[in-house]
Amino acid sequence: MKSMEEYREHFPIFKSKVYINSCSYAALSNEVEAAFLNYLKDRHQLGADWINWCDRLERVRALFANLLSAKESEIAVTASASASLSAVSSSLDFSGPRKKIVTTDLAFPTEAHAWHALKKNGAEVVHVKEKDGMIDIEELERLVDDKTLLVAVPLVCYRNGALADIPKICDISRKNGAMILVDAYQGVGAVPISAADWNVDFIVGGSLKYLLSTAGVGFLYVREDLIGQSNPTQTGWFAQEDIHAMLIHDNIPANSARRFEQGTPAVPNLYAAEAGLNLILEIGVENIREYVAALNEHLKEGVLKIGGKLMSPTDPELHGAMITVASTDQYALVDRLAEQNIVASCRDGNLRLSAHFYNNIQDIDRVLKVLSDNKNFLA
Ligand SMILES: Cc1ncc(COP(=O)(O)O)c(C=O)c1O
Repeated sequence: MKSMEEYREHFPIFKSKVYINSCSYAALSNEVEAAFLNYLKDRHQLGADWINWCDRLERVRALFANLLSAKESEIAVTASASASLSAVSSSLDFSGPRKKIVTTDLAFPTEAHAWHALKKNGAEVVHVKEKDGMIDIEELERLVDDKTLLVAVPLVCYRNGALADIPKICDISRKNGAMILVDAYQGVGAVPISAADWNVDFIVGGSLKYLLSTAGVGFLYVREDLIGQSNPTQTGWFAQEDIHAMLIHDNIPANSARRFEQGTPAVPNLYAAEAGLNLILEIGVENIREYVAALNEHLKEGVLKIGGKLMSPTDPELHGAMITVASTDQYALVDRLAEQNIVASCRDGNLRLSAHFYNNIQDIDRVLKVLSDNKNFLA
């Protein structure tokens, strides 16, 4: 296998910048750039190449399945994590006694919106609060009961980087007969995920962050046993058992997670998503997790040494790839970093520093130098 330094060479942005913002959007690799160009070349040379485009959709599905340790038939390729969430929410049935959806205060807004929009169907939505920046498991245990239809949690919180204890949450949900959805967007590609081991019902995410590619391609994992009983009303012709049937007097959804899809896939983005996924799988998520953990240990130590306050848990087992630092002026701090050609982002008053396999120790030292020179913006 190539070294991480060799892989870094695939990302031209590092010639001019320190890019440490994968929680927002990944750096662009030569492979993903070439994939986009291939799409344009194919358009010039082949026109409308539907057969190959559909094959590519299936290849992307297989790559997602591989990444999540799932079956291909359990994966829907969607347009975004929001589209995945909406497809799931449109399939939920509130006609029985289970009307409660338990979400958390660590949810990304789009996840919470999906559930609150269901209040018109009779859903009762409750939020588990955070405790020390993590999901308060005791409160979750109190809120999940035999009236709970679904428990929804982020794998990694987009605001502070906290990593949820999915096996524990699954255990509580299963004991109460509730379904479990994991929003894995801030983890996928940086934190190993095994749908089979987790025994969850739904996993949502997308391609533009740690999966290295682009907006326009999301995914939804649906546990095999649930597929037959799920009837999403957010649907379309790509969700039909036979896409080519052109049926208009009925709705016959596919006998796989494809029933959660909708219309024409975002073809150019599939080219990019395939290239990004191939690169991630070639390097291996376990390797990425280990490599980034070492960078983050150096980062956390450095932040504490200069008197900064970490908003992410300090225990490496309790956070994802993103480390957050409390700031008195998050935007000014991001600007100071940008002046030194360092790309980072912020949310909720915190600076977000999200390393990937393409970052190195020198990147971390450069970030620490800017933080040290701007202590007035550290809370
Ligand atoms: C945890 C999480 N979930 C969902 C989303 C939204 O994804 P999309 O824009 O693909 O719907 C984001 C985007 O940042 C996110 O961080």
